[in-house]
Order: sequence, then C-alpha cells, then structure tokens
Amino acid sequence: MGSLSEQEMANIAAPVVEANGARVPAIGLGTWDLRGRTCARAVEQALRLGYRHIDTAEIYDNEREVGEGLRASGLRRSDVFITTKIWSSHLAPRELERATKESLVRLRLSEVDLLLIHWPNPQIPLAETIPALCRMKSAGFARHIGVSNFNVALIEDAARLSGEPLVTNQIEWHPFLDQSKLGEACRRHGLSVTAYCPLARGRAAGAPALATIGLHYRKTAAQVSLRFLLQEGAIVIPRTAKVERLSENLDVFDFELNDAEMDEIRTLAGPRSRIVTMGGASQWD
Ligand SMILES: NC(=O)c1ccc[n+]([C@@H]2O[C@H](COP(=O)([O-])OP(=O)(O)OC[C@H]3O[C@@H](n4cnc5c(N)ncnc54)[C@H](OP(=O)(O)O)[C@@H]3O)[C@@H](O)[C@H]2O)c1
Repeated sequence: MGSLSEQEMANIAAPVVEANGARVPAIGLGTWDLRGRTCARAVEQALRLGYRHIDTAEIYDNEREVGEGLRASGLRRSDVFITTKIWSSHLAPRELERATKESLVRLRLSEVDLLLIHWPNPQIPLAETIPALCRMKSAGFARHIGVSNFNVALIEDAARLSGEPLVTNQIEWHPFLDQSKLGEACRRHGLSVTAYCPLARGRAAGAPALATIGLHYRKTAAQVSLRFLLQEGAIVIPRTAKVERLSENLDVFDFELNDAEMDEIRTLAGPRSRIVTMGGASQWD
C-alpha cells in the first residue's frame, strides 16, 4: 500500500526546508542502531530510491559505513546532505575540533553539510562550545551548524552566543509528543526543527487513529505520522533498513492532511510520551 517503484521514487524532487540560509532535504534517513553492512546497504539503497539526506552521529559508530553507502550510490557528493553530531563529552573547544576531524576521517569527507551538538552538557559552558562550533564552519569542516536536544532556554542562549546562523534543533517529535513551544522558540530564531523518532520507534505505525486517517489517502499510519510532521514544518529522519519501508516512508509527498485531521492528530499528544532521555538531561528540560 502506498509505495512507488524505485524509478518513480528517484524521480521525486525531494522537497527542502529552508532555514537561516540552509536548504535541508525535508526527509532524511535516520541511522541510529544501523551498523556494518546493514548500514552501508541501507544508505546506498535509500539514496538510490531518492533520499538525499542522511543523519548519523559520532556515537552511532557507523560513520564509516554511511560514507561507504554514499560512495556506493554513485551520486555526486554535492547532491547529498550529510548530518553528523558531536557527542556531549566532546564539547570543550579542543575536543570538539578533534571529534569533528575524526568524524570527517571516518566519513571520508572534507566537510559535512550539517554539524550538530548532539546533547547539551551542563558541565561545559555553552559560551565555549558555540564559538567552537562556529569555528568548524568558518574552517570549512561544516557547511552549516546546529544543535540537538536543546530546550527553549538553551535555544535562546545558543542563538545569542552564535556568530553564525544555527539552522536546526534536532529533537524528539512525533504525534504523541507536543513540541509546539519549542518549535515556536526555534522559529523565532530562524531555526528549523528536525524531528527524530518521527515514527515514535514504531508506535506510530500501530496507532489506529493514524491508520484510519490514512485509509482516505491509501496511506499507512507511518506515512500519516511523517506527513503530519512535514505539514507542521519539520524535517523528518525516519529509520529503517527494510527496502519496502524506505520506499513507504519516502512516499509522503502526494497527499495533504486537512485541518481537521491535523487537529485530530494533535490530540494524540500526551504526558510521558518521551522515548529518548539521557542521564543528566532532565536538568535541562
Ligand atoms: N539527536 C538525537 O538525540 C537522536 C535521538 C534518537 C534518534 N535520532 C535520529 O533520528 C532517527 C530516527 O529515530 P529512531 O531511529 O529512534 O526512531 P523512528 O525512526 O521513529 O523509528 C524507527 C523504528 O520504526 C520502524 N519503522 C520504520 N519505518 C516503518 C514503517 N514504515 N512501518 C512500520 N515500522 C517502521 C523501524 O523498524 P525496521 O528497521 O524494522 O523497519 C524502527 O524499529 C535515528 O535513526 C537517528 O538518526 C537522533
């Protein structure tokens, strides 16, 4: 249901989200937990199907395989948007520079398209980290920079401290979690929001309310979840290593949810719906 052929997929011009001077493909492949051959194959396959954005991180232990998949796709480097993230224990300026260079070596790239701070670290002042991140951009290691898992107060601080535009805040966002306040803060400073866990790690695919809405459009519950986030203005980075799901997740640009459906999906958000937490992160929430 709702899947296109490989050729049809490759012909889709992937829509972009513009933010603070960057053009970020609105859908990317998430790669957390994909390793080894599985990861390289998923990246290659995704790019062949029409994905133009891959999300990785130092901590995922798969940057090498992401680079392999990229090269195996045969696409030009300039046609693919690669995001990586610096782990939170590497946010002191010298560590940040070292970690960035090591990520580039593993990816076998001279620059990434987007370099993010993966999680804030309360032990390391943002006033040191943000200028160091900016230097990664001016040194040519990253075309764009941004943050991840920053709350409203941290977004305000980061925007104030940054001499370069920050283009995204990558945060957990799916129909079960209301992120409207944080989204507003990001928009106020020109940042896009990248939704991680956009399928709530599979919960969205099994949600009857999303499945019912999808029936009108011959779309699955997973596709409705992604479409909802896209219409909210997000960039989405769903993860799967399964070819048929790679296609399914990309096939979300030929239908539009109406206002009533968007409102209905917003009612699914509730407390205790957060999936990802990190030790110490709660003090930043
Ligand atoms: N910045 C951060 O701190 C942070 C934190 C978490 C994640 N992320 C990024 O965001 C990406 C996405 O988040 P996530 O991987 O945690 O969760 P997700 O994308 O919400 O969900 C992935 C799960 O959904 C399943 N799935 C995928 N497509 C499906 C479909 N069409 N129908 C049914 N099930 C489907 C996958 O199973 P199969 O593989 O079996 O298909 C997998 O178990 C990550 O991979 C990572 O790149 C960032």
